[in-house]
Amino acid sequence: MQRRKIRDNIHWLGAIDWDRRLFDALIPLPDGTSYNAYLIRGSAGIALLDTVDPAMADQLMRQLDGVAAIDYIVCHHAEQDHSGALPMVLERFPQARVLATPKAKALLVDHLHLPEDVFVTVADGETLSLGDKTLRFIHTPWVHWPETMVTYLVEDRLLFSCDFFGAHRATNDLFVGDQGLVHEAAKRYFGEIMQPFRTAIAKNLEKLAGLPIEMIAPSHGQIYDRPSWIIEAYRDWVLGPPRNLVVFPFISMHGSTRLLVDRLTAALTERGVTVELFNLAVTDIGKLAMALVDAATIVVGTPTVLGGPHPLVAHAAFLANALRPKARYLSVVGSYGWGGKAVETLAGMIPNLKVEVLEPVLCKGLPDQAAFTALERLADEIARRHGESGLQ
Ligand code: FEO
Repeated sequence: MQRRKIRDNIHWLGAIDWDRRLFDALIPLPDGTSYNAYLIRGSAGIALLDTVDPAMADQLMRQLDGVAAIDYIVCHHAEQDHSGALPMVLERFPQARVLATPKAKALLVDHLHLPEDVFVTVADGETLSLGDKTLRFIHTPWVHWPETMVTYLVEDRLLFSCDFFGAHRATNDLFVGDQGLVHEAAKRYFGEIMQPFRTAIAKNLEKLAGLPIEMIAPSHGQIYDRPSWIIEAYRDWVLGPPRNLVVFPFISMHGSTRLLVDRLTAALTERGVTVELFNLAVTDIGKLAMALVDAATIVVGTPTVLGGPHPLVAHAAFLANALRPKARYLSVVGSYGWGGKAVETLAGMIPNLKVEVLEPVLCKGLPDQAAFTALERLADEIARRHGESGLQ
């Protein structure tokens, strides 16, 4: 694919990764992704903003055919899906200087073994004139690494945001069309990698609040030519209260835990509480991460295996602990065969969750009436707490 014009002297470059289905050997990519780079030609200088994943470097290099010189390569983020082709670009344009935050410089030296003298570090708020175009560098740490920054193109009111506001989508439509599809993909992306850094991201949103922004050009997915809704969505995900929602990951081996799960789901439904079930034997963990963005309560359903929670539940608990969702309450339901410490083991795995633990419901073997009665009490408790907090 060739360079594509966004505005006069501003072009999209990059690669659309239609086939990729996994990121970080962990995160599902149901819709593929893209690695966006941008070329800005000013009257007195040319800048390339970010590169692409090294697996697709050849595409970027072809798009740079015919570009006589690059003066600056702006590196917003050191992760290799944006920086990985940097050595190849520098090989072709050895006079180019790499502009990055001081932390990004250090990371790029470590990750790509680039020489220190190719870098020029930029301070927060520093500007660079390309003649008729001015780049303003804004440090936005922890979206989702410590070194991240964005670039604001002053004359065009265009924000180049890298991962910030990004969405894993492979499409050849340059601009956002179906807002619903992009909202889901962007929320999934936020849930998977940005969710733990809500405090830092809130500060970054505040920093950007004073800027007139006509477009946001991220490094994954499409360009927002009407960007206000994605900024508002981020505000909600970061600062908004949780919803009247129970996120319910579970595993059942012989059907007993499933009976508990279904009974509690029915009881919560009768009480007006939304439930999202995730059978961890088949679930897409990206969907689970996305649901955790809104959950007020997490209920974990697990049988006991070898004295502890099922390993797939342990995996989900580890993930939830790392994502630090804004949930306020947590409980566990499950059936055990002969004994064990599933609840105690799970509790020890989630120290990062600032939740109040509601009385677990455990039963030996097939659930009996006492277990179902306990589930009704748990549903009452969850509904009451959500109601008292005014969650919607
Ligand atoms: Fe798209 Fe954090 O890299």
